[in-house]
Amino acid sequence: MKYIDSPIIINALKKTYRHKGVNLMKIGKVGRNDPCPCGSGLKYKKCCFGKKVWISPKDVKIKYLQKYGIRLKSEKDIDGIRKTGELAIKTLTLVENIIRPGLKTDEINTLVHDFTTSKGAVCAPLNYRGFPKSVCVSINEEICHGFPGDRILHDGDIVNVDVTPIMNGYYADMSKTFFVGTPGQNAKKIVKITRECLKAGLKEVKPGNTVGDIGWAIQKCAESWKTSVVREFVGHGVGFDFHEPPQIPHYGKRKEGITLVPGMVFTIEPMINLGKKELYLLDNNWTAVTADKKLSAQFEQTIRVTETGHESLTPYDL
Ligand code: MF3
Ligand code: CO
Ligand code: CO
Repeated sequence: MKYIDSPIIINALKKTYRHKGVNLMKIGKVGRNDPCPCGSGLKYKKCCFGKKVWISPKDVKIKYLQKYGIRLKSEKDIDGIRKTGELAIKTLTLVENIIRPGLKTDEINTLVHDFTTSKGAVCAPLNYRGFPKSVCVSINEEICHGFPGDRILHDGDIVNVDVTPIMNGYYADMSKTFFVGTPGQNAKKIVKITRECLKAGLKEVKPGNTVGDIGWAIQKCAESWKTSVVREFVGHGVGFDFHEPPQIPHYGKRKEGITLVPGMVFTIEPMINLGKKELYLLDNNWTAVTADKKLSAQFEQTIRVTETGHESLTPYDL
């Protein structure tokens, strides 16, 4: 066991190892001809190759910031985000209880806005890059970023409600797709598959896996049901800000992309279309709709990577 205290290239963090009260992380896949991470100046193959090499969490934090712009979260930060997450869950539960045919979507906006502010929190969507409302409400063929307004919910619709409160400076981002009245076959199908897709993505979240593993699992799930994954919108780091690095695509290849490490907090929020993946934007320049006008559903949770796997900071059953 060798403990390296200098910044190095991390290609694959395989597992953590406890040494003198700190969790060290094993480093794999430094190229044979790369400079040795121990700082000897020799090629890796002439030096520490084959030996176990470890990096401290402090160095991982520096490396992830410098290399990717990712701000890893401390336990205190996680507690803050989890508390905001609890508020998000309560908000969506209130919304769920008023969803019915005949409801005007602006009533969802009012409920979310008033409840959030009554708890001393702020609705992140309101005025975010010009977004005019406190919550996104996306119906049927709307993929995401729908404006609540005068539109009325009808029996058989599906409606995604996406909330992002900020409390004590911490963001949590969460959405669910609800049935309005009695769902038809297609509504039931796309909602069930989208839940399965988020579940499949979550299973991949553990240290040593990559961002690509998450997308790969989601894409495999969606395509196995002959549904499609939206490419233009992706999950994202969250917690200190609304949208932080890294991006979390809901499609991809196994082992590709950034390696997951403890302290990362990001959303997984697959948008799955019953028909084709193509979309266009409405002339409000925000709302995305399916090009073929078929249904689209979405579920979103804010997830943190733990030492052994993951924890949802906005948990609900899938
Ligand atoms: N909540 C959305 C997400 O999951 C972002 C909405 S941006 C807004 O990332 F401006 F429309 F609110
Ligand atoms: Co999000
Ligand atoms: Co969201």
